[in-house]
Amino acid sequence: MVWPLLRAPAVKALLLQCFAFFITGLTLVGIAYVAGSRIGIVAAALLQGSVAAALSFRFRLAFWWLPIQLLFPVTLLVVSALHLPPILFLVLFLFFLLLYWSSFRTQVPYFPSHPAVRQAVAALLPAGSPHFIDIGSGFGGMVLHLASLRREGVFVGIEIAPLPWLASWLRARWQASAAHFLRGDYTHLNFADYDVVYAYLSPAAMPALWGKAHSEMRDGCLLVSYEFPIPGHEPDSVSYPVSGGPALHVWRMR
Ligand SMILES: C[S@@+](CC[C@H](N)C(=O)[O-])C[C@H]1O[C@@H](n2cnc3c(N)ncnc32)[C@H](O)[C@@H]1O
Repeated sequence: MVWPLLRAPAVKALLLQCFAFFITGLTLVGIAYVAGSRIGIVAAALLQGSVAAALSFRFRLAFWWLPIQLLFPVTLLVVSALHLPPILFLVLFLFFLLLYWSSFRTQVPYFPSHPAVRQAVAALLPAGSPHFIDIGSGFGGMVLHLASLRREGVFVGIEIAPLPWLASWLRARWQASAAHFLRGDYTHLNFADYDVVYAYLSPAAMPALWGKAHSEMRDGCLLVSYEFPIPGHEPDSVSYPVSGGPALHVWRMR
């Protein structure tokens, strides 16, 4: 339980920042001892950020962590200089916690797909009463839309983060929709129950998603991924719902 957590990039970044704090502290003490001079707090923050960025590079964090690591200590200084009310930090922390929940582990944050993608996915649904699931359904837009178009089908969304899940559940009640919203982790579901599995996740999630879909989905059923391909597995079709935007990849299971 602890080791997988330590492998999460956000946890690694935090640990490296703590390590950089320690190294910076020792450096400042060394400078004070040898040269008898003190470094200003902004310079110390920049030094810590630089050490953290260098360590992040050394430990192969994705490149976009480097500017975050570099600027994090200075940003802390600036924000604390604003003397904002402490309750604001608690409120923002709780809001982002409920919105992003375990994104630091799954590496799949919330961001919605474009409404045009819903039309493109609707066109992929088989005739009859399809069983459809959006794995990581966010605020439920995709599932609610499809459920309103195809009243004979079964439309399910599963979402790990409490805030989007609650919003989608309330939206379904408000609209008297037949859509179902589950709160949980899609990795615990059996994909054999669905004709179409739709995913808008992240590159980090795709290899394991393929393994699960390939071992559980029935022949002829569709795995659909917006934006993110699956390395080493050519899709059966690719379309571009938004001109100039990301691709919609479709694999027919066999
Ligand atoms: C990029 S958003 C996509 C939202 C929605 N499907 C759409 O197309 O607008 C990805 C969502 O997947 C959720 N998620 C990530 N990992 C998950 C998991 N293992 N089980 C369920 N939901 C997950 C995230 O909380 C996030 O809300």
